[in-house]
Amino acid sequence: MHIKNSSILKVIFAVHLLCTGWLFAQNDVAQNSRIIQNIESREKQTLDGLWQTIIDPLENGYYNHQYGLRTKKGFFNNKKPKKPSDLIEYDFDSDYQLTVPGDWNTQMEKLYYYEGTIWYKRSFNFKKQSGQKELLYFEAVNYHAIVYLNGEKIGEHKGGFTPFQFDVTEQLKEGENVLIVKVDNQRKKEGIPTLNMDWWNYGGITRSVHILKVPEQYISDYSIQVNIDNPKLIEGWIKVENYKANEKVSIAIPELKKEVKLTAKNGIAEFSFKASPKLWTPDNPKLYTIQISSETDKVEDRIGFRTIETQGHKILLNGEEIFLKGVCIHEEAPYGLGRITSNEQNQILLGWAKELGSNFVRLAHYTHNEAMIKEAEKMGILVWAEVPVYWSVDFENPETLQNATTQLEDMIARDKNRAGVILWSVANETKEIDTRNQFLKTLTEKARAADPTRLITAALNSQKKKGKGQPVGIEDKLGEYVDVIGINNYCGWYGSDPKPCRDVKWTNSYNKPVIMSEFGGGALQGMHGEPNEIWTEEYQEAIYENNILMFENIEFLSGTAAWILKDFRSPRRTLRRIQNDHNRKGIISEHGNKKLAFYTLQEYYRSKK
Ligand code: GCU
Repeated sequence: MHIKNSSILKVIFAVHLLCTGWLFAQNDVAQNSRIIQNIESREKQTLDGLWQTIIDPLENGYYNHQYGLRTKKGFFNNKKPKKPSDLIEYDFDSDYQLTVPGDWNTQMEKLYYYEGTIWYKRSFNFKKQSGQKELLYFEAVNYHAIVYLNGEKIGEHKGGFTPFQFDVTEQLKEGENVLIVKVDNQRKKEGIPTLNMDWWNYGGITRSVHILKVPEQYISDYSIQVNIDNPKLIEGWIKVENYKANEKVSIAIPELKKEVKLTAKNGIAEFSFKASPKLWTPDNPKLYTIQISSETDKVEDRIGFRTIETQGHKILLNGEEIFLKGVCIHEEAPYGLGRITSNEQNQILLGWAKELGSNFVRLAHYTHNEAMIKEAEKMGILVWAEVPVYWSVDFENPETLQNATTQLEDMIARDKNRAGVILWSVANETKEIDTRNQFLKTLTEKARAADPTRLITAALNSQKKKGKGQPVGIEDKLGEYVDVIGINNYCGWYGSDPKPCRDVKWTNSYNKPVIMSEFGGGALQGMHGEPNEIWTEEYQEAIYENNILMFENIEFLSGTAAWILKDFRSPRRTLRRIQNDHNRKGIISEHGNKKLAFYTLQEYYRSKK
């Protein structure tokens, strides 16, 4: 084949380099993935339902009176008296029960403010199968989980919002098994999140627990997306666990009449092939069925193809400028309940966001449940996903950095194939100090290494107010490390009246897009009065009206995310007659009643192309 001129060669080589460079870097990511991809497609035995529990505020089931680790008397032994005189001061089977998935705070009045340890026990029958591996998979446990199976310690995990798994093929028995989990949601200085947060510290096994059944050699992970520079090129990799040499794998997209056969090297098969998928957009959230097979395993997924990038102050989706019309959401169920436990609850919140005219949601301030991300993608809603590096984190502590990195990488690992997710956020409202800059710089690098195809961001509140009539300046050092700058700004609430907001001007030291990642104010739904009467719906409405006028004057603004869709519980909100343990900045009350500001924002989003 005769090539006309060298520039074409250069381009092809560059693309090849990019691909292989990207694929090479991804090889590391593939090698280190900790959690199996796409459990929805897996055969599983789910252990949801009522679990026996023991409330143990002094961790008496774990430490003895000299604070030494218990062995024989540890509650993880699930001991039963053998003879009448046996003294065993705990008994799961006659103690309280809690539902899994679910937080404990809203299941029992006496646990409403509880922070500490609760032991969970679940007995279940299991049928073993030869040639099968069993993975014990927790979708999330807040905060520190220590896991025992049939009296043997399996492992532990810190972090309340990302999945973790253990291979329990050896420990799982035919017939009755006893799974015990020590769950501790005490806040710690070195934790992620740390000691203070403006949301309820819901404790418990808050998401589902499964025994996943997979073949000896199984497809543990994969990544598929279009090439950023050439959306007619689909590329990625497939990872086989316990692989055989030169394992044969394939990827098929029936609707595109595509099937590509590959040979895995060291369990990883990389691919790059031409195809012309319809690109995923909020108006047309097109998903394709993808079938991935190896010699002994098969998984199916629904994947959308799109490109996301920035160009100066613009955010480009599939090469076209987009304005993100958004709202923030906490993972709290509507109608006064606690943590979300069903996809119906996800659908209600996302349905309200759609009704608002949103094409974007900021899922604050931690990784939300996987179904929420998948539902948003199906509904054509773009997603900002975040790790709870929030407020006064212990930035000097290497363990804290490792913890944050693990949560970030696990969030990316779980949701990397979701087209709806466009932004990974590494932090929220952290003080602009050197240790923080270094900590977050590292996190942005980890995020890029784990996923070079998406935008990295953080929510800042370090904007410089330079006095009356002076523009507000965005100058935070972190602006250097992120692709998109999030600004949390409460003009009209913390420290100012709503009206003057309309005249506030802004400057941006970076040639990068800015999203107003939080704005708004509180109101008690149903409380009415003059626009200058705080806590009335009219006051909140005035905040929205004047902030919206301010937004229209910010030429580098490429998105907004109102704080917040729904009133939510927070132990920091202690004005009993108004807040009653709730942050009232929702534009919808916790009971689902819309406030005036909901319609103000709806009108704006409907008017905004
Ligand atoms: C902060 C913070 C939120 C908090 C909000 C508020 O900006 O990021 O988590 O709830 O302000 O004060 O209501």
